[in-house]
Amino acid sequence: LGRKIHFEDSVTSTQKIAHQLAYDGVPEGTLVVAEEQTSGRGRLSRAWYSPKYTGVWMSLILRPNLPPAKAPQLTLLTAVAITQAIEEVTGLRPDIKWPNDILINKKKTVGILTEMQAEADKINSVIIGMGINVNQSLEQFPEELHSIATSLSIELGEKVNRAELIQTILMKFENLYQKYLQHGFYPIKLLWESYAISIGKRIIARTITGTLEGKAKGITEDGVLMLEDDQEVVHYIHSADIQIGS
Ligand code: BTN
Repeated sequence: LGRKIHFEDSVTSTQKIAHQLAYDGVPEGTLVVAEEQTSGRGRLSRAWYSPKYTGVWMSLILRPNLPPAKAPQLTLLTAVAITQAIEEVTGLRPDIKWPNDILINKKKTVGILTEMQAEADKINSVIIGMGINVNQSLEQFPEELHSIATSLSIELGEKVNRAELIQTILMKFENLYQKYLQHGFYPIKLLWESYAISIGKRIIARTITGTLEGKAKGITEDGVLMLEDDQEVVHYIHSADIQIGS
């Protein structure tokens, strides 16, 4: 992975470039990295703030021979890879909040955006966008994010080498991806659960169809979140914003 790297100074969004490259037929493992994004995208059509030289903004193109329903597992795998890399490079202890946020000291440090193109029940390409706040100072975040977002350097008290972080993420990713393709999701699920903060806690899940409250029981083999409400009914949540504790 990452043997072919497109390194850009300034782009609208690395996701957009990766989609075009995937469409043009580039091989699995192609990576797009940018120093700055002028319209970085987050989940649920939100903007992702990506100022120059401060973060890791990148998109990885995968072409797994899998049905589209398996794509969410790759998001969870990515979260494990980034968490392991952050641990190794900085010594910090990140937590994963389902499905794809990585928090340090309860503040969001990393976001993952997985987008897929599929045809006839087969994945054509999966684009995994990773946004990592690395060297921003608090003043470099918009005011409204001060209480909910952070960067590695804020938490660590010193700057972090972004190239080393990217390299370590790719190594961890490659290792987990091989494991996943050989043995399936189970070993990844165990690792993911060891970093997850929401499991076993009371959560509020805001989905497009409404809000659910209850206890997070765990995730299924497919990476779907199981929430047990106060009537002990288990709900399967594919996509939501999660708030922990109430
Ligand atoms: C989230 O909402 O938590 C996901 C954020 C994903 C941001 C990354 S930065 C690199 C890639 N390019 C984008 O425009 N978005 C993703």
